[in-house]
Amino acid sequence: MSNNKLKVAVIGGDGTGPEVAAEAVKVLRAVAGGEQIALELKDFDYGGDRYLQTGEVLPEGALDELRQFDAVLLGAIGHPDVPPGVLERGLLLEMRFRFDQYINLRPVKLFPGVETPLKDKGPKDIDFVVVRENTEDLYCGMGGFLKKGTPDEVAMQTAVYTRKGCERCIRWAFDYTRKRNRKKRLTLVAKTNVLTFGHDLWWRTFQDVARQYPDIQTDYNHVDACCMWMVKNPEFYDVIVTTNMFGDIITDLAGILQGGMGVAAGGNINPEPGGVSMYEPMGGSAPKYTGKHVINPIAAISAAAMLLEHSGFEKAAARVMKAIQAVTGTKMKSQAAGKMGYSTQEVGDLVVAAL
Ligand code: IPM
Ligand code: MN
Repeated sequence: MSNNKLKVAVIGGDGTGPEVAAEAVKVLRAVAGGEQIALELKDFDYGGDRYLQTGEVLPEGALDELRQFDAVLLGAIGHPDVPPGVLERGLLLEMRFRFDQYINLRPVKLFPGVETPLKDKGPKDIDFVVVRENTEDLYCGMGGFLKKGTPDEVAMQTAVYTRKGCERCIRWAFDYTRKRNRKKRLTLVAKTNVLTFGHDLWWRTFQDVARQYPDIQTDYNHVDACCMWMVKNPEFYDVIVTTNMFGDIITDLAGILQGGMGVAAGGNINPEPGGVSMYEPMGGSAPKYTGKHVINPIAAISAAAMLLEHSGFEKAAARVMKAIQAVTGTKMKSQAAGKMGYSTQEVGDLVVAAL
């Protein structure tokens, strides 16, 4: 972002990804018009179809080209004819790692009118944020096989934690908790009772950094207990900071509490000056719904709101968030695909109208 310019690379991706990305773009364009943001958009056709045609997920020079943008908006990846891991590693994790997007920010907010599976809980109870470390842990791809395919086979997959890696994430989470200015409570979620090396490093770093934030109340949950508390007392949480793998798992649980994959969005953020961040709806490519225009674009539109917020356009972001909540609260029948009472495009139009 410089002045009022915002350059966004749009990767619609696979399945229903392009359909929801198109609605997010529609809302971005509309709010940019109203807020005098000079929005520049460019589409990229990366995903399963291109991989099947060319044999490569990202062509030579793709990352250098994407680096020229302020942010990337991703629809979804996942193609029924591509083996698991190829697109995830080649596109999603590649961008997270190569752009050093070390924060995976996942707001867990139950919007008005949205159903949660939790009995007797409403929007005032489900409103917290998970800050997931996004570049280390079991995701770093370290490991290997020994005697593969024999009865003596050994497989190793190594979790890597560095002081620098956990400290920058924990520090960002403290700053974010302060800026959010709600309960001012930061909960570290880990498993120090079993992962006595890696999570001991997280624990010690958390304690060290906490000393510089006396205004923030600190708290600790083992990850298994966190799953229990999140269902029983979600209102307790304000901000959670956690490791990559645990963050992956608990944010699916959190996602269903906020109304499911049609609603949940995430930001893969490189907070450093000039860092390129990527925003995505958490739902998958839903191949069986492709082209039916029944998939919920609210998550993708929320991802666009996060993109605005973290690119320096906080007022525009707040307008989009407010419009989303007006639409979920007063228009949509359900957040489930095919049950919204509107098509994918109509939901996008409703958000634009509510801006
Ligand atoms: C997510 C997804 C990814 C992850 C997959 C698709 C590699 O589940 O963003 O949570 O595990 O991080
Ligand atoms: Mn996940």
